[in-house]
Amino acid sequence: MAYSLEENHFFGDTDPAELIKTYGSPLYVYNEEILRTRCREMADMVGRPNFRVNYSTKANSNLELLKIVHDEGICADAMSPGEIHVLLEAGFEPSEIFYIGNNVSAEEMAFAIERDITVSVDSLSQLEMVGKNHPGARVAVRLNPGVGAGHHEKVVTAGKKTKFGINLDKVDEVLETAIRYGLTIVGVNQHIGSLFMTGEAYAEAVSVVLDAARQFPELQFVDLGGGFGIPYHKQEDEERLNLSDLGRRIRQMIGKWDDTYGREITFKIEPGRYIAAECGTLLGTVHSMKDNDGNRYAGTDLGFNVLIRPELYGSHHDIEVYREGKQVTEGPTEVVNVVGNICETGDAVAKDRRLPVMQEGDVVAVLDAGAYGYTMSSNYNNRLRPAEVLIDKDGNHRLIRRRETLDDLMKGFVE
Ligand code: LLP
Repeated sequence: MAYSLEENHFFGDTDPAELIKTYGSPLYVYNEEILRTRCREMADMVGRPNFRVNYSTKANSNLELLKIVHDEGICADAMSPGEIHVLLEAGFEPSEIFYIGNNVSAEEMAFAIERDITVSVDSLSQLEMVGKNHPGARVAVRLNPGVGAGHHEKVVTAGKKTKFGINLDKVDEVLETAIRYGLTIVGVNQHIGSLFMTGEAYAEAVSVVLDAARQFPELQFVDLGGGFGIPYHKQEDEERLNLSDLGRRIRQMIGKWDDTYGREITFKIEPGRYIAAECGTLLGTVHSMKDNDGNRYAGTDLGFNVLIRPELYGSHHDIEVYREGKQVTEGPTEVVNVVGNICETGDAVAKDRRLPVMQEGDVVAVLDAGAYGYTMSSNYNNRLRPAEVLIDKDGNHRLIRRRETLDDLMKGFVE
């Protein structure tokens, strides 16, 4: 097997069984070094001073991880007042946050604008709302470049079948609305979708949006969006996205813009998954093994309330099995369904996967679970959200979010 967390010292000086003994199961474990490395790769991708990385908070909004991202000199995008709140708590300045809302209420828009956070609107209707409530404001507009990309149709956010963005044939109306309310369009942004492993669609969309952006005379920035993929099939030696090639293409396009727009502006990207996915592993425990009609099941505590990606998109996550602290790499294997403890048949982390023959008490490690893992977790079946642990640069572990308790389930109820 090509890739192994154990061989890469993902868990630092501790083994997964010990981590579970200390913090319980299931458990999200994050590796600080990997998080920092991914931040730096993004920051260095384009190699120009007027280039800025906004981490997309929705991928993972753990306070401690946000502090590390901020420490790496990375800014952030937010999708909701809740994300803005956590970013401010993590030490981000309002000027380092970009609110890219979608169908937001007047109150939510005001929440950001009153805190001096730049907002992006993605419909003429929302531009009108800002104009009426905040005449003279400085806003960005999210354009739909007509090119989308992503690992599943549910996460393609540009093109013809999407609720996001303003189509390019509406730019005249945007400009007219802005003039009517004295709004300054300071930014243009786009996001074509999530998880591409080749840069073609992204580069094409960048070229389209840069052409469209020239129609806005007072720009301070163009935000090119996120979507940079990571290899989820590491055990099969899947290749990484060629960042240096994509970076070179973006650099060339930005260079041309700088030569012709008349003044320098900032270019931004919004990676979420690329920064957060690979630093996170989800650990769980095997509680039961069984055969049903010739199908083998490893029953774990990894219900889709803790990681919904396989259930929601059919997403693949590599899996490792640990026994007595060591990764099981030898001995018999079998084709197995790794399932959770939720009352639905679709509750499977992995289907028909060849893995070492498991037994009760084994620890299952689900790789690349740092992005859209915890943030999409829920209390379905009144299950509790797991704890989160950080393996720091020196290989030590510490709790960065406690496991929920039964009392947490009662918090919102009124007498
Ligand atoms: N910018 C905007 C405006 C976005 O909506 C998103 C993601 C990003 C940036 C970051 O995209 P990334 O670099 O992480 O691909 N839950 C799905 C992914 C949904 C992404 C939603 N928007 C998943 O688990 O695959």
